[in-house]
Amino acid sequence: LLNEKESMFVVSEYAKKYFQDTLLYSEEGKAIGLSYFKERGFTEQTIQEFGLGYSPDKWEAFTSDALGKGYSLEYLEKTGLTIVKEDRKFDRFKGRVMFPIMSMSGRVLGFGGRILTNDKKAAKYLNSPESDIYHKSKILYGISHAKQEIAKKDNCFLVEGYTDVIQMYQAGIKNVVASSGTALTPDQIRLVNRLTKNITMLYDGDAAGIRASFRGVDLILEAGMNVRVCPLPEGEDPDSFARRYTLEQLEKYFAENATDFIRYKANMLMDEAKNDPIKKADLIRDMVLSISKIPDHIQREIYVQECARIMDISEEVLFNSLAQQGRKEL
Ligand code: CTP
Ligand code: MN
Ligand code: MN
Ligand code: MN
Ligand code: MN
Repeated sequence: LLNEKESMFVVSEYAKKYFQDTLLYSEEGKAIGLSYFKERGFTEQTIQEFGLGYSPDKWEAFTSDALGKGYSLEYLEKTGLTIVKEDRKFDRFKGRVMFPIMSMSGRVLGFGGRILTNDKKAAKYLNSPESDIYHKSKILYGISHAKQEIAKKDNCFLVEGYTDVIQMYQAGIKNVVASSGTALTPDQIRLVNRLTKNITMLYDGDAAGIRASFRGVDLILEAGMNVRVCPLPEGEDPDSFARRYTLEQLEKYFAENATDFIRYKANMLMDEAKNDPIKKADLIRDMVLSISKIPDHIQREIYVQECARIMDISEEVLFNSLAQQGRKEL
């Protein structure tokens, strides 16, 4: 299996190079892919650094090229780059701009490919399938670029998507990774935990983005990490936001608007519940569940005090509820 994986890495590395060359040197790639990235504000240096590419809009351009260069069909199929149906072979990625997904050490594991039209029927992003080298739930997009800066800044910005990472990085905020549209998994949390105990979540400035950011946070708290959230203005995602401002402005905004997660959640739920006692009881249970995940008991106690104040109830009620929660977990 070791040799199999190695062969899959080699094929993936070649695919990255092929898509890059197609983007930069083919007529189709330049006219369609490169101009798309430039319109999005990506510089040539950024395109190079993230290994961005383009897959030709043909049935088997990449596959034929790779087979001609001596790469074996077995590994082209195992990486999902080629789809084999009966005796016919197809490229998985056709007419898409390509984002290679790399491991912590910078090896190519798989790809995300974005369509260029705004066709609502087609999936906007197509990703490599799960394979022996690509496990979506175990990798964070951008981690190989971000790792040094995450350790240095002792903080990791977490965003939703590929372009959010790239635009933030280009703006000069390099300690940024994406969960690629899903809630964080324990494996992804472990990756960050090796570098820092602090996560700042930047979510899209809409209701769906806010809800999505709440999911998975209990897992981060459980890992003993500190979570802050930084809401963006309505209608912005980190990509559009980072494009609009200078590095100084961005740093100032994040410094002023990042709020401790527990405090943020308590305030937000209180706004929603207003004076509805049933809703308020629900939100107290919700908050207690989050607080109960924190392993450090001193920190738990500080949060209990703070939440009691925000929610205007006694600390005793919260502590009792916390103790009950503890019994349930046993
Ligand atoms: N995603 C995916 N498959 C989809 C849609 C989304 O894998 N069909 C993942 C991608 O990693 C994407 C992330 O979820 O980057 C966030 O999705 P979305 O906000 O819809 O896309 P953006 O990253 O904002 O992409 P763009 O700005 O190009 O529209
Ligand atoms: Mn495996
Ligand atoms: Mn969104
Ligand atoms: Mn988005
Ligand atoms: Mn976007």
